[in-house]
Amino acid sequence: MNHFQDDPKTAYEAKVEAQRIAFAPVTFQACRILRDAGILERIHRSRTAGMTLEELVPQTDLPRYGVKVLLEAGLGIGLFCWNDGRYTLTKLGYYMLRDPMTRVNMDVVHDICYRGLYDLERSLREGRPAGLKTLGDWDTFYEGLSSLPPHARESWLAFDHYYSDAAFPAALPLVFADGPKRLLDVGGNTGRWAVQCARHDPVVRITIADLPQQLEFARETIRENHLENRIDLVAADLLEEATPLPGGHDAIWMSQFLNCFSEAQIVSILKRAAAALEPGGTLYILELFWDRQPNATAAFCLQQTSLYFACIANGNSQMYHSSDLLRCLAESGLRVVEECDQVGLYHTLLKCRRI
Ligand SMILES: C[S@@+](CC[C@H](N)C(=O)[O-])C[C@H]1O[C@@H](n2cnc3c(N)ncnc32)[C@H](O)[C@@H]1O
Repeated sequence: MNHFQDDPKTAYEAKVEAQRIAFAPVTFQACRILRDAGILERIHRSRTAGMTLEELVPQTDLPRYGVKVLLEAGLGIGLFCWNDGRYTLTKLGYYMLRDPMTRVNMDVVHDICYRGLYDLERSLREGRPAGLKTLGDWDTFYEGLSSLPPHARESWLAFDHYYSDAAFPAALPLVFADGPKRLLDVGGNTGRWAVQCARHDPVVRITIADLPQQLEFARETIRENHLENRIDLVAADLLEEATPLPGGHDAIWMSQFLNCFSEAQIVSILKRAAAALEPGGTLYILELFWDRQPNATAAFCLQQTSLYFACIANGNSQMYHSSDLLRCLAESGLRVVEECDQVGLYHTLLKCRRI
């Protein structure tokens, strides 16, 4: 799907949009504070009656000046209507308050990316995540994920899970139609997919491979679900070229994993996956590709997420165009035997076998 062939805006619309971009960090913070300080919520609850500035001030923990400038900024942004001094919520204000996708996207931008994005240009010039130092002293974000402050870690996990949670239930029947007996979940993170597999199929055994520090969280999920006898854990840093993937599996699963690596690193990992697969085994890749999205806004979210990878995560990966990954697969001795788009709406499932 190519949503980018035409220039749909009039000159006026283009200039309006340009001003929104010029002030984007300002409007972003105004919206976030209006949400987090409970102002959107209070105005929403006032329904069509609306609220005046003076009615709102005693109901927030901000000074009158703060509430006043935020409300006036919100008017320009389009969050409110203003009649006879009374503020009511617009549809945009409502989605800013209630839409879960908007919330996870905003929280990850604020808690993980915002301060580091100042160094985006440096990151791009130097090919390293120069903004990561705002979170901690690590080479890649994933090394530090388990030791982030709880609030930032929660925002990152909510963002990651929001997208994979929608896709996992749709992917399960597609994977288990092939009857895998031993499944390797590479980059299994908190163990959500592994637990869902174990619940879906009573006999499948699963191995999660991930960075050692990340496995502690998977261990907790497995214990909570009493699945210690069906899910194993293997510590592996796949950036180490000499680290093989554990063998003995007829299915290998990589969900939202390959976007954490450069194309050269992807080829190296895929070659190890091809070597680890049992004869006749299948590699399943669940990814979000910006060219396979049902609408331009979904593509936009992925294209902007690439800059999180550039500035914060590792400095060399991105949300890929599907042709980038298909090229890496061919280079790694793997062929795609089936492609399924819009799994849970935004994901693509690629079924691959050794050539
Ligand atoms: C974006 S998360 C995806 C998690 C999960 N598969 C999902 O779909 O929600 C990427 C996962 O890859 C893991 N990872 C990142 N770099 C890694 C590396 N060098 N070796 C092994 N795992 C790595 C991270 O710890 C994290 O669990």
